[in-house]
Amino acid sequence: MEHINNYINEHKDRFINELIELLKIPSISADPAYKADVLNCAEAVAKVMEDAGADNIEICETAGYPIVYGEKIIDTNLPTVLVYGHYDVQPADPLELWASGPFKPVIKKTDIHPEGAIFARGACDDKGQFYMHVKAFELMMKTDSLPCNVKFMIEGEEEVGSDNLGAFVKENKERLKCDTILISDTGIISNDNPSITTGLKGLSYLEVEVTGPNRDLHSGLYGGAVANPINILCEMIAKMKDEKNHIIIPGFYDNVLELSQEERADIARAPFSLERYKSDLDLSDIHGEEGYSTMERTGIRPTLDVNGIWGGYTGEGAKTVIPSKAFAKISMRLVPNQSDEEITEKFTKFFEKIAPKSVKVKVKPHHGGEPYVSPTDIPAYQAASKAMENTCGKKPVPVRSGGSIPIVALFEAELGVKSILMGFGLDSDAIHSPNEHYGIFNYLKGIETIPHFFANYAKAH
Ligand code: BES
Ligand code: MN
Ligand code: MN
Repeated sequence: MEHINNYINEHKDRFINELIELLKIPSISADPAYKADVLNCAEAVAKVMEDAGADNIEICETAGYPIVYGEKIIDTNLPTVLVYGHYDVQPADPLELWASGPFKPVIKKTDIHPEGAIFARGACDDKGQFYMHVKAFELMMKTDSLPCNVKFMIEGEEEVGSDNLGAFVKENKERLKCDTILISDTGIISNDNPSITTGLKGLSYLEVEVTGPNRDLHSGLYGGAVANPINILCEMIAKMKDEKNHIIIPGFYDNVLELSQEERADIARAPFSLERYKSDLDLSDIHGEEGYSTMERTGIRPTLDVNGIWGGYTGEGAKTVIPSKAFAKISMRLVPNQSDEEITEKFTKFFEKIAPKSVKVKVKPHHGGEPYVSPTDIPAYQAASKAMENTCGKKPVPVRSGGSIPIVALFEAELGVKSILMGFGLDSDAIHSPNEHYGIFNYLKGIETIPHFFANYAKAH
């Protein structure tokens, strides 16, 4: 497999520069102001696929942003790997917290990335990671070492809930037929501790509205005599968890799959330093559901968090007012065997029940998704594990992530195929945050590891 490192050494500067070009396109799917940029990005993705040697490239229109498809079928008797990724990115705000422009990629060294990291929105999530696949594919094509068929499906709506991908998958089952799905949109524990993500959380995301009086009121004339919807909303949110941080929505844990002592012992064996975790985040103490470790809280326990809360006066100075309305965005991360629909319904019932008569409430569901777990005893997982062992010098540990990629459960339901989550990001890469970055080491390590996966998988299949 010497050809892999030789090819990377020869071409790595170009690999980095090409990624930088892609990162200059502000493909923010959430904000309609960037529509032209998202569409341009789809064109750019189609172009890089073509340059790498893919056939039958198509920019597939949907009701939202297009899905870029491409493939290389070398022999229909060989197994087929479907690569999924997303070319859309999160909004870049708050802009003032970026040390350099979110769409002006720069390479800087950090303590964690002594070899340098590319700073830009989407560097790690997910342009840098799906581009590793494009470059690994180029490498296999150019060195005549592609051992199986490849299909690429790179979408443009992951960060806004993949609303149109489900229909595309349902309508294109034949085209997407494959033996395994390979995704790099997750992370590893650290550059010295390789890991493979074996679980993704589901998601129920809602917006709530609490209405008090029919108009904003003078807080002196009416204060204390009518319900203040912000106060009420805060009280209602406080009623969602008990003093042990258990969620007390009736039936919330009914379907939660409890792990065996053995599985929990496995989680405890993964390298993790609570002291490092706290110091990274400047926290004097951690927080969470009693009876579970930090890794369990993020990996295997469902959670409930307020993502945003607003209402009343938040401008300069003071305005004495009791607002008519208050709002919050609330998300619940789900684990097997909870479902988005079930939890959304239980939340809604509970929220309506605990609302005092002095206010009216509305609950509006946003996008959601189902949880996913990948087994470790299937050929594709073994191929990924061996690939990482080959290139990282250590067997990767399986880790359940707190993040969600809702489409992965849908792939399983519709295509009947398991996904392997072989990502190379780090938690410290600041995805969805200002100063997102992706280590050059991680980028090149991914490009190096993917051809090993293909070779191992083709052999095992
Ligand atoms: N790539 C992330 C998910 C992720 C990151 C999983 C790191 C595991 C480790 C993905 O782009 C993402 O941000 N997903 C959203 C869900 C989506 C419906 C907006 C999330 O997890 O909040
Ligand atoms: Mn992502
Ligand atoms: Mn994301």
